[in-house]
Amino acid sequence: MKRINCLLAILTIGAPLILAEESMDKMWGERTVQAGVENTERAALFRDGNYGMFIHWGLYSHLGGKWHDQTFYGIGEWIKNQMGISTADYTALAKEFNPSAFDAREIARVAKAAGMKWIIITSKHHEGFAMFKSAHPFNIVDATPFNRDPMKELAAACKEAGLGFGFYYSHYQDWTAPGGDGGPRKNPDGSKATFEQYFREKCYPQVKEICSQYGPLNFIWFDTPGEMPKELVMELADLARKTQPNAMLCSRIGHGMGDYESKGDMEVPPRNMEGLWESCDTTNDSWSYAWYDQNWKDSKEILHRLVSTVGRGGTYLLNIGPDGTGRVPAQAAKYLEKAGEWIQRYPQVVYAAGPSPWGHALPWGDVTTVGNTLNLVVFDWPTDGRLLLPGLQTEIAAAGVVTNGKLVPVKWTKRGTWTELQLPAAPTDHPASVVAVKLQAAPKVDTTLGVFPNIPTPLLVEFADVKDATKQSIDWMEKFGEWKHATQVSGWKSAGKAVWTIDIVEAGDYRLELIYKGEGRLVWGIETDEGVKLQNQQNASPVYHAYPFGLLTFNKAGKHTVTVTLVDGAPDKASLESIRLSPSE
Ligand code: GLC
Repeated sequence: MKRINCLLAILTIGAPLILAEESMDKMWGERTVQAGVENTERAALFRDGNYGMFIHWGLYSHLGGKWHDQTFYGIGEWIKNQMGISTADYTALAKEFNPSAFDAREIARVAKAAGMKWIIITSKHHEGFAMFKSAHPFNIVDATPFNRDPMKELAAACKEAGLGFGFYYSHYQDWTAPGGDGGPRKNPDGSKATFEQYFREKCYPQVKEICSQYGPLNFIWFDTPGEMPKELVMELADLARKTQPNAMLCSRIGHGMGDYESKGDMEVPPRNMEGLWESCDTTNDSWSYAWYDQNWKDSKEILHRLVSTVGRGGTYLLNIGPDGTGRVPAQAAKYLEKAGEWIQRYPQVVYAAGPSPWGHALPWGDVTTVGNTLNLVVFDWPTDGRLLLPGLQTEIAAAGVVTNGKLVPVKWTKRGTWTELQLPAAPTDHPASVVAVKLQAAPKVDTTLGVFPNIPTPLLVEFADVKDATKQSIDWMEKFGEWKHATQVSGWKSAGKAVWTIDIVEAGDYRLELIYKGEGRLVWGIETDEGVKLQNQQNASPVYHAYPFGLLTFNKAGKHTVTVTLVDGAPDKASLESIRLSPSE
């Protein structure tokens, strides 16, 4: 599927004119990784730990998203680039940076209490400031009144707490070093600065420093390889592997030299994926601290995205952005710790847990597996107490709500291809409950999309068969750097259609909504295999919006198809993201 890249035009005024028309997608580098890493001892922490802390903390945190009283609404660590702060002005900030509230032990305590198994922290981000003692003078020990090496303190605190530890390092972009991508094109003496010069003078020596000054590392998280020449990436990979043989490299080192794939920013994939991969996400909308950004994920959202990542077969790396004093934002710590208390009650759901046999999320929550046991994680408790499982083909040996580590048995009945578990009227835990289903053998599931009679069912176009129209994965930014991801169908030819195959357990009327964006008023047609037709006109908007299209009747339980066509409207301007079928009463 073609990716529509969100073109990133970076124009900064006042600094050396940095015009880098890059699609940040491309900047993340290719996703292929080294083979044969998955079952190694080195991969165990990542493969079975499944949950780590990311930390974005740097000189940009001192600005907190504000420069000369003007707020930059976007990922805070890009403020220099996006607000055109000159290199002279930006480097001068170091004299003010004194994060005296930084407490490495407290950060390690929060990570541990959150149930996270390692910490990866920004050692040098795109703007070039080193948060560690470096021979390069633009660093926290030599250039600030703080005069301490917080990376040394955090490495020690992680060791003491039994947490893994690693560094983020931006190896291609460096906005203050001559020759770095996005950096000054000239040296102070007026001579031309080259990337090779930046690589030899700063990048390679600093990677050697972070690999040799802080003890054994579990991760080195290079970021945005962009157009970095392959032979230079190879030099960094060789250096990392030689000096830190246990460290896992993510795919963003570039040129397929990583050990695992790092998905796009803030991306939890909708269907299972093989191999070693991670979703990197943040506790609000920005990686680094931004004064205005209070869009904190609460414990329910943190757990839902964690469980869905593990359910798709991945690892979840969740970020915090300490402020300019070094403090962890209280709301981030609060909800991380609440989520951690839940994980302590259900460690089997996260650690060394495997993917869902359904291959995608279910309307009431998600599923992870341990051997032949399904961990049904219920975020939206069915109001009628009926927890439905579509397509489960393996016989159940036992089933029950997990309470205080014990199984409180529940009854189940087969209803055609569905299994119905009778749950208590009210949820048994907050913000999610766990129902364990022990199977008599390895789980076998018919993954046909189930449409539920007691909870709205979203049907993504990701799971539709599309003919004579274009299905594409798209990434876009809400605020700068706040990434969203979707699959959509547009470019509808006259015979264009999106067809879902679904499994209905109860015949009847279902309220149908179409979620799309576009221009003008659009007429969509919907038809089922039983010949039931709906056709309706609704408006369109530049962002995805759910429009009601009427009641769709299914005359009998079982498998059906639902076909959506664009009857009238600009075919290239109508982008369908999903449909939703909800119980009618
Ligand atoms: C993107 C951003 C960078 C951020 C990273 C986190 O590469 O450019 O600022 O550190 O994502 O995944």
